[in-house]
Amino acid sequence: MTDGLSLDDWQPDRNLAMELVRATEAAAVRATPFVGRGDKNSADGAAVDAMRRFLSTVNMNGTVVIGEGEKDDAPWLYNGEQVGNGQGADCDVAVDPIDGTSLTAAGRPGALSVIAVADRGSMYDPSAVFYMDKLVCGPDGVGVVDIRKPIGENIRALAKVKGVSTSDIRVAVLDRPRHEQLIAEIREAGAGTRLLLDGDVAGGVNAARYDANIDLCVGIGGTPEGIITACAVKALGGMIQGQLKPRDDDELQKAIDAGHDLTRILEADDLVASDNTYFVATGITSAEFVDGVSRRGPFIRTDSIVMRSHSGTIRRVISDSLISRWA
Ligand code: FBP
Repeated sequence: MTDGLSLDDWQPDRNLAMELVRATEAAAVRATPFVGRGDKNSADGAAVDAMRRFLSTVNMNGTVVIGEGEKDDAPWLYNGEQVGNGQGADCDVAVDPIDGTSLTAAGRPGALSVIAVADRGSMYDPSAVFYMDKLVCGPDGVGVVDIRKPIGENIRALAKVKGVSTSDIRVAVLDRPRHEQLIAEIREAGAGTRLLLDGDVAGGVNAARYDANIDLCVGIGGTPEGIITACAVKALGGMIQGQLKPRDDDELQKAIDAGHDLTRILEADDLVASDNTYFVATGITSAEFVDGVSRRGPFIRTDSIVMRSHSGTIRRVISDSLISRWA
């Protein structure tokens, strides 16, 4: 071993992510017949069902803390549902059987099936505040960019530390009317936007990768997606910051009643207070860092990214399974 860790001290332990990936693979495969069929609910239903079945085999005592919604609305993978085989460690589980349901329904790139897991009680509880302003970048940006600063300043600082021109900086942002001003400021600073139709988990993970082809992911997206992204960022060595953005007075009041300080900038450790996070994602349609599900003769191929922060490992898992076994 390197860095002073002798072989005697080296105690490899179980990497749950290696088990979790079977659940995202299954969800991606089951969602695939619905790609481009214009029916996001059926795609999501198929992915939820498959993910839940495979999660039941995973060696953990998991509680869904970020799921498909409250039990009354979501029959499966609802918040509070117990998942896993009931043995192993107590865990918080965040599931997004499809991040990018509209992308899936339209047959567009960037849809992923995602699970994040961390120690019990470590994932942030946003108390139903749907949106969060986020900034995500890779290892180069740690201590360099800050969500409190104007985007132009962050772009210049990142360009400087990367030794490139601001025109080389690429910024992912959800293509939404609420981001009109932000998009204008990114372009005024000389950087280029990469506008996302949907799916800011893929955008955030892509920005946090050391060899990514985008440099920053910014703007307002889902709060659950921010917490899930934080689990990946911890393994990727990048950074994420977030700030809750209630949609209306009702959400604002709920957030205040729950004791949230809306001026607070949430760092990665606030979003997930654990150094043992797992993140797995399988491409449903192709994203920048994983291919979508594809057919190879009698096989169906899935492509996944599998990470664990404790060990600092990032794996690509490509699986071929006989289609006949999925029937
Ligand atoms: P769904 O797949 O659940 O529809 O989420 C897609 C998504 O684009 C997320 O990645 C993102 O965080 C959120 O929706 C943005 O919300 P909105 O579409 O309201 O801007």
